[in-house]
Amino acid sequence: METTASLLLSFLVVLILLYKRRPSSLREIPGPKSKSFVLGHLRELLQQPAGLAEIEWQRVYGDVIRIQTTFGSEQLVVIDPKAVQHILCSGYKWRRSPVRREMGRLSSGKGLAWADGETHKRHRKLMTPGFRASETEHFVPVFFACAEAMSTDWKKSILSTDEQSHVFDFTRFLSHATLDAIGLAALNYDFGSIKNHENELAKAYEGLTLKPLHDVAQVGNRVAHQLIAQKIEEIQNGAPHNDIYTSLVQANLQESSKTRLSDEELVAQLRNLLFGGHETTTNTICWAAYELARNPDLQARLRAEIKSTWKREDRRESDEFTLKKLESMPLLNAMCKETLRCYPVAIHLFRTANEDDVIPLSKPIIGTTGRTMMEIPVPRGTNIVVSPSAYNRNPAIFGKDASEFNPDRWIEGRVKTEDSLGMPYANLASFAAGSRSCIGWRFAVAELQVFIVVLLRNFIIESTPKLANIRRESALAMIPLIEGELEKGTQLPLRVRLVASK
Ligand code: HEM
Repeated sequence: METTASLLLSFLVVLILLYKRRPSSLREIPGPKSKSFVLGHLRELLQQPAGLAEIEWQRVYGDVIRIQTTFGSEQLVVIDPKAVQHILCSGYKWRRSPVRREMGRLSSGKGLAWADGETHKRHRKLMTPGFRASETEHFVPVFFACAEAMSTDWKKSILSTDEQSHVFDFTRFLSHATLDAIGLAALNYDFGSIKNHENELAKAYEGLTLKPLHDVAQVGNRVAHQLIAQKIEEIQNGAPHNDIYTSLVQANLQESSKTRLSDEELVAQLRNLLFGGHETTTNTICWAAYELARNPDLQARLRAEIKSTWKREDRRESDEFTLKKLESMPLLNAMCKETLRCYPVAIHLFRTANEDDVIPLSKPIIGTTGRTMMEIPVPRGTNIVVSPSAYNRNPAIFGKDASEFNPDRWIEGRVKTEDSLGMPYANLASFAAGSRSCIGWRFAVAELQVFIVVLLRNFIIESTPKLANIRRESALAMIPLIEGELEKGTQLPLRVRLVASK
């Protein structure tokens, strides 16, 4: 008993010392008071609808906010554009936080999401060839094939109804379609989950964002080993493929024994691809469909753009749009940018300072002492969280109406894109930036473009009464849930009817 009491006391003393050692520069940063010493503001950050807490804190306290995490430790929420760019784009001065790396290891093994410093550089160099623009071009027909396969199924269901329309849970169907897409593009493997919802591998990989990390790890390992065995056999048989994994294996073969990825690392990369590239795209397409259902006019304008582009192409029915053609459609691209702006499915970016640093600011902040701060000196070990949701709503970059969903802002040239802050896509923080930015961003944007084209070419998407209760939930990604039906997990029920004629 005495031992327990003294252990507890020592623990409290350490906590108090740590708290006292907090550097004065951080102490001066304004922020909300925490109601819980144990959890700090984590509950608000992670349990409210995704992004809400940061947006509210930003409104009250400005672009850099001090919050508390567990047991009185502190963290900065950074929204200021110059500060965000500095943190994300200064090489490995700021590292992915140890907790996030560990989550990366638990979910996907010791691959890209876990690797750090020189190891990360080595992994990233080998993974990059599969994600270049030229490679993405090859995936466009794959995305079309998967989106069309889903549409064919939907048409059959709709035609069999009396009312000639049907309510589909978009999260479920899109999860199947995007799993098939990542399987084919990443590995030339057909999960076949659109046709067969009972496919064992596909079922194992469904809805992973809501499963415990331990289950994710088990599923990932099993799927990856099974798929890699097939892939190695294919490569040994000399079958040439354009998939991401073949690019990785080929690049790896060129490496010296010192820099080559080990078998364990190769398995982890595949798990990273399946984990990073599936639920992210599923949910992004879902959020696009949600906004289309809420905006029938926008939907009609987009359909008209798709129709006129299709006509101009004067192609045979079996041919599909090229990436260049997709890129040439102003409203389609505005829609993609606006979806990724308002629904950044990777909700938080956690970073830790690997050395003492000074964070520059776009505009000064007033500290709690009344002092004006132009920059923030921080010691090694400082933890920060970048909120893409809050960053993407910065009125200085995206206009006064930044909190509203309005794709036209991109067409009317109201978005400041000239001084890109190092973000890979449209000045948005949705794919992060710098050495750890999303390696799959081109893949994700092309997939989103294709699914919007196929959905709107074939269907009219309509709202359902449940849409009023949709909530953006923070799971491992920003997922749609329905208030009052949280126990049912992710769902997005939308009514779909056929477009009269193409
Ligand atoms: C809309 C879809 C997507 C979004 C919003 C997204 C977002 C992100 C973000 C924000 C990061 C950085 C996370 C951090 O540093 O904390 C990231 C990393 C990553 N993403 Fe994506 N992603 C998407 C799709 C994809 C796809 C399709 C793939 C693969 C096919 C992919 C693979 C990865 C990988 C492997 C990393 C780790 C990169 C590294 O640490 O070097 N992502 N993603």
